[in-house]
Amino acid sequence: MNIGWIGLGNMGIPMAEQLINAGYQVTVYNRSKAKEAELTKMGALTAETPKALIDKNDVIIIMVSDDEAIKQIFAGDDGLLAAQTSGKIIINMSTVSPSISKEMSQKCRLNGNDYLDAPVSGSVKQAETGQLVIMVGGKRLVYEKVQPILDHLGKLTIHVGDTGAGNTAKLAINSLLALYTQGLAETVLFANQNGIKTEDLLNLINNAAIGNVYTKIKGDAILNQNYKAAFALKHIVKDLKLAKDEGISSPLAKTALQTFENAESEYGEEDLIAIIKALK
Ligand SMILES: NC(=O)c1ccc[n+]([C@@H]2O[C@H](COP(=O)([O-])OP(=O)(O)OC[C@H]3O[C@@H](n4cnc5c(N)ncnc54)[C@H](OP(=O)(O)O)[C@@H]3O)[C@@H](O)[C@H]2O)c1
Repeated sequence: MNIGWIGLGNMGIPMAEQLINAGYQVTVYNRSKAKEAELTKMGALTAETPKALIDKNDVIIIMVSDDEAIKQIFAGDDGLLAAQTSGKIIINMSTVSPSISKEMSQKCRLNGNDYLDAPVSGSVKQAETGQLVIMVGGKRLVYEKVQPILDHLGKLTIHVGDTGAGNTAKLAINSLLALYTQGLAETVLFANQNGIKTEDLLNLINNAAIGNVYTKIKGDAILNQNYKAAFALKHIVKDLKLAKDEGISSPLAKTALQTFENAESEYGEEDLIAIIKALK
């Protein structure tokens, strides 16, 4: 299967690289053309538009920011839906709303193409090593056809239900991510305010039952004051808003949305752990 890849951001680049390294012929499209260079150096081809990409490839994988980006990629004269081609499989791995997946899935079906939502848990590090966790919504038979491709991107893929179910599962996971992040930041600040060094506190957390891969990675980021976006703070605001649209209304979820939303104008382009600077 030839693969067309759309979206070369923090996640898209290492994920597309995994597929090139696995031996697939990958053709890339990105809105900002300069980002395609890293992939062409590795042997990727490029396409001028999403329409040109789907014409020439069996499977299209999308990894872009949000619902708006998805609309732009599917719609218009240059969009995926403009192509007169059938029998293709479109896998949307972006974190977007279940409703946009349902809409695009229906439109793809009218063209004789299949759509899966397959968002991922894990960040740049896991993308670079093919260790993502992938949750898939859509027809199981279609998922089974592309499972070998997804196996190069993730260590675990679960088919969780019909179209949009992958997106719903992802929004649930990212709600917890927001709570972890704010919780870790608040805990470090409380300890610091009472004379405990960050290094000591993180050492304790990471060796205790409450420590995990996430507290290690984000703890290191706090210690090194490294706020370069692996997962941009603006994206967790997007996800918490989508979760709210899907009905989450718990006290912690409400607080997290408010906290991250308040920080977005100043820290939106930085990593979500930059919330610690906003809370200081
Ligand atoms: N980073 C993480 O740790 C992580 C983890 C799990 C899931 N995710 C999710 O994965 C998705 C991608 O995340 P990321 O961190 O790779 O984002 P990113 O670095 O911000 O990259 C976003 C990508 O989307 C493209 N894009 C944005 N708006 C567009 C539009 N209107 N039309 C066409 N293309 C558009 C960008 O193109 P340009 O280059 O032209 O701007 C870029 O390729 C998001 O849904 C995010 O929530 C991220």
